Amino acid sequence: MRSAPITLLLSAFLCTVGCSDSGDGDGGETASVGATGGTGGGATSGAGGATTSGAGGGATTGAGGGATTGTGDTTTGTGGATTGTGDTTTGAGGGTGGSDGTGGSAGGGSARVPAGSASTLREAGEKANPPILIGAAISGGGLNDNNYKRVAAAEHSYVTAENEMKWESVEPQAGQFSWGAGDNIVNWARQNNMKVKGHTLVWHNQLPGWMSSMTGKDNVTAAMRRHITQVMGHFKDRIDSWDVVNEAVQTDSDTGVGNPRMRPSVFLNQIGEGYIDLAFQIAREQDPKAKLYYNDYSIDARNAKVDFVYNMVKGMVERGVPIDGVGFQMHIGPPNNEAGGADVAANLKRFTDLGLEVLISEMDINRCGGVVTAEEQLAYYHDIVEACFKLPKCTAVTFWGINDGRSWLNSWSGALCNGQQSSQSLLFNDQYQKKETYNRVMDALLGK
Ligand code: XIL
Repeated sequence: MRSAPITLLLSAFLCTVGCSDSGDGDGGETASVGATGGTGGGATSGAGGATTSGAGGGATTGAGGGATTGTGDTTTGTGGATTGTGDTTTGAGGGTGGSDGTGGSAGGGSARVPAGSASTLREAGEKANPPILIGAAISGGGLNDNNYKRVAAAEHSYVTAENEMKWESVEPQAGQFSWGAGDNIVNWARQNNMKVKGHTLVWHNQLPGWMSSMTGKDNVTAAMRRHITQVMGHFKDRIDSWDVVNEAVQTDSDTGVGNPRMRPSVFLNQIGEGYIDLAFQIAREQDPKAKLYYNDYSIDARNAKVDFVYNMVKGMVERGVPIDGVGFQMHIGPPNNEAGGADVAANLKRFTDLGLEVLISEMDINRCGGVVTAEEQLAYYHDIVEACFKLPKCTAVTFWGINDGRSWLNSWSGALCNGQQSSQSLLFNDQYQKKETYNRVMDALLGK
């Protein structure tokens, strides 16, 4: 892996692109619960795992067996889960791999167990133990295209609306809400048995002028409260995870280097730093069960920005602010930072050590600008997805788009290179054919 390039153009870029447009978490917990049982070793510890939690213990015991022998993997675990007591059924099943007592230990450690095979990314995610959501940013325009819809639904189990739930889309005028575009995406996702993440409640970009120019702490607080409450209320029972605050931290370089600090915005300027805690508290009041996330870019591998975000989030956890996880956007290559798999793994891990979920939330890898070669792009896709996959509390990998031809990067001239008409940043080409990047992601999801 090459080291992070510094000289990039994100400020200009974000303004061009952004300003101008004016199995689930429980799966992760389950695995660590199961880890305890797994240590006891396959068959014997059917009971050990299951006593803590029928699902966690049984499943992980089985997973341990599967990891060792390559047989009787998830199915075995399911047997344990069903009995919930780790009795004969679990013993017999787990025993396939864990009879020597080492299988349980290996599988029950902190690993996610991959499916033996899968014909789509979605299936690979669903059959992993614990499962992992495979997501994509979906645009309203894309849903007019049958090829786009076909690939999106076949390959993904999780949807983020690319623009349709942002403030300017849902509340273009103060107190007047517009749900059509967001509803369209949510309804399509539900028809295809996909979960949806709401994106995003509080963000400095794609904020209507009436909001970004508001003054007075009480006014901005009331507007933020109304927005979060109305938007979450509208989608309640259809969306159970939210990017509550997006991109609240900035550095001198948009690669995450230099002088990290809270980003000026109407929220910071009028309410103060407490706006972040407040946004999460309001979101929790609106939906006691939803997963509530902080989301940001250039925090993917170790740098000054992510250290700052880590401390910010750690403080939130310590203060009891209701945050459930952190989304790492993972826009790799110019204009954002680069990250190797090992760096990403260590970085994600320290956030999960705070008790949080982590998600790769907007992944794409731009090859232009001579920064990322074709080989490096393949390695990044594999190694970064692998880093998430190996961490049971990494609950989703979302790609920022379906195919190169519709990538958001195409609207930035710097993203077009190598004689191509599109950014070459995603898993499918302009004709919706799988690229080698797809194969490398699939490998990572299958533990290869
Ligand atoms: C981008 C969309 O993909 C573009 O279509 C839009 O013009 C600008 O926003 N970080 C985020 C996403 O959190 O919402 C942004 O999406 C990409 C960067």
